[in-house]
Amino acid sequence: MKEDTPLEHGQWQVEDDDDLLSNPSQRPDIHDVMAARLSRRGFLKASAAAAVGAGLTGTLPGWEPAGANAAAATSLTFKELSHGLDDKLHLSEGYRAQVLMRWGDPVTSDAPQFDPQNQTPASQGGQFGYNCDYIGYIPLDPHGPTASTHGLLIVNHEYSTVQMMFPGSPEPQALTKAQVDTAMLAMGQSIIEVKRGDDRKWSVVADSKYARRITPKTEMVIRGPAAGHPRMRTSFAPNGRRAFGTFGNCAGGTTPWGTIITSEENIQYYFKGDIEKNPEAANYKRMGLGRYGASRSSEWGRVHPRFNLDSEPLSANHSGWMVEIDPLDPKSLPRKRTALGRFKHEGAGVWINPDGRVVVYMGDDQRFEYVYRFVSHARWFPNHRSANRDILDHGTLSVAVFKDDGTVQWMPLVYGKGPLTQENGFTSQADVVIEARRAADLLGATPMDRPEDVEVNPVTGTVFVMLTKNKKRTEVNAPNPRTKNTYGQIVEMVAPNGDHGAETFKWSFLLMAGDPKDPKHGARFHPDTTDNGWFMAPDNCTFDNKGRLWIATDGSERFGFADGLWACDVVGPGRALTRHFMRTPKGAELTGPCFTPDNTTLFCSIQHPAEGSSFDKPDHRWPDFDPALPPRPSIVAIDTTALLKDDK
Ligand code: FEO
Ligand code: CA
Ligand code: CA
Repeated sequence: MKEDTPLEHGQWQVEDDDDLLSNPSQRPDIHDVMAARLSRRGFLKASAAAAVGAGLTGTLPGWEPAGANAAAATSLTFKELSHGLDDKLHLSEGYRAQVLMRWGDPVTSDAPQFDPQNQTPASQGGQFGYNCDYIGYIPLDPHGPTASTHGLLIVNHEYSTVQMMFPGSPEPQALTKAQVDTAMLAMGQSIIEVKRGDDRKWSVVADSKYARRITPKTEMVIRGPAAGHPRMRTSFAPNGRRAFGTFGNCAGGTTPWGTIITSEENIQYYFKGDIEKNPEAANYKRMGLGRYGASRSSEWGRVHPRFNLDSEPLSANHSGWMVEIDPLDPKSLPRKRTALGRFKHEGAGVWINPDGRVVVYMGDDQRFEYVYRFVSHARWFPNHRSANRDILDHGTLSVAVFKDDGTVQWMPLVYGKGPLTQENGFTSQADVVIEARRAADLLGATPMDRPEDVEVNPVTGTVFVMLTKNKKRTEVNAPNPRTKNTYGQIVEMVAPNGDHGAETFKWSFLLMAGDPKDPKHGARFHPDTTDNGWFMAPDNCTFDNKGRLWIATDGSERFGFADGLWACDVVGPGRALTRHFMRTPKGAELTGPCFTPDNTTLFCSIQHPAEGSSFDKPDHRWPDFDPALPPRPSIVAIDTTALLKDDK
């Protein structure tokens, strides 16, 4: 989700609330009583120790004088794109993007064509939603020749921007009930079947049996430690085991058994009510609920009692989870996996440990929040899909404590262990997962500069954390070494001997984002990074199957260039030599980058094009440029076969 969108463009903006702090330990009023975590000098020492300790490439990029030239150092030889800002999508020379699915395109076989002047709940409920984000690709025949040419795409629709969606560009308070519902049904997920033809063009398979919309109204099952707990019981789910809908879905992860787990991130906008009188007041405040006036609310609570906490006080406990969806079984109910904790989930990096346990890395994207890890109790069955069906219900959730000596300690969030006892208000594991943030506070978790995507490199098995930025930081710690950090950084974590269940990892920096030529930024890239190769605000990421990192950004426009995609090696002489591959049309953010298994296609979401303008007066009309059509969030497919040919 876009951050820092200027409010003068309209008070309606549903931006994320990262300027507001939910972590009480980080409020300025108690800064005085907190010991300074680490001096700048201490950081440099810690970083060097971390780099050496991790045994990676020996030096942190930029900490040493330039050695190699760019052409020789990097394995990526696509022609670099320049920074820029206009109403088009731009790619490295020789690459083309095909627009595959746009907001309003029919998903289900009974859905009508897009009619921007007359969208209704019924039409939107069957059409591609708004603000596409995470993309998961599930091959229909994973071991066959069509694995990378025929599959399902599962796409998150993170939020609706109502002024961009309806004629008259209404304020949220002015929305009719039908418009509130239309905007609501533009969220959730789209599942589409896609196929690449002999002409190498992708198309959506019409009348696919897999085609499905999942929305904030879809029935779901609550699983794991919180299922059935009194704190989960509502009038619409008296047994605490059913929920309705998922929303605020940002990034996600794909499991090796062919499901996706989707995050619930900025849930706080969707509930109305007097938090102070709520029995869950402390819990809800820690999740950032109750801060939003009418201008930033989505108005769901005005129309639907289950989003009004005065009438349905516990319903917000149904949100803030990871949700597993089985796209191969169109009748299956999505399952909220409460064992993975409740916070503002960004996404999930899924990894199979050498012993067969399933490991999920997750970020909590708000200022001063934490990095988490889940390790399943059971081992997965590679050839028995249904045996893995509920493997994510049982396991150990831990939170990361980053030490100055270059180690990471994983602290388990287990009821009865350490401070997670009745004395501190925890009476079961359900309490621990419902209030995962507070449990993590008590365990001394390291407050980070907004953890967005966390992904595991398929080649090296090391874990990369995108820390997008944190302009409110006044006190540094080892992995977050800059105050007023408007640029972000990328941290790498290394499991000892590849054991991702271990208690202690090592960590180091991959890079510090910002302009390396401006000393005030404190940026650190490979010394040969060009004027187009640097970026700021890393957000989503993915790896190609050579283990190279592809980084999407969210927040470059303040520096006069568009967000987009950069790529780099993470090992060898090209480590952190990032190169610019693609940039979005003005106002947009690039999200959900996803390669097919053979890397010949890269799918990306173009989220919120022309954001900051309005339906009536859009900044531009990407991708159709038709005066009758508004700008439309869309997913694109890029033929990356050439990438495989020209790289080394
Ligand atoms: Fe939805 Fe953290 O971005
Ligand atoms: Ca972001
Ligand atoms: Ca994001």
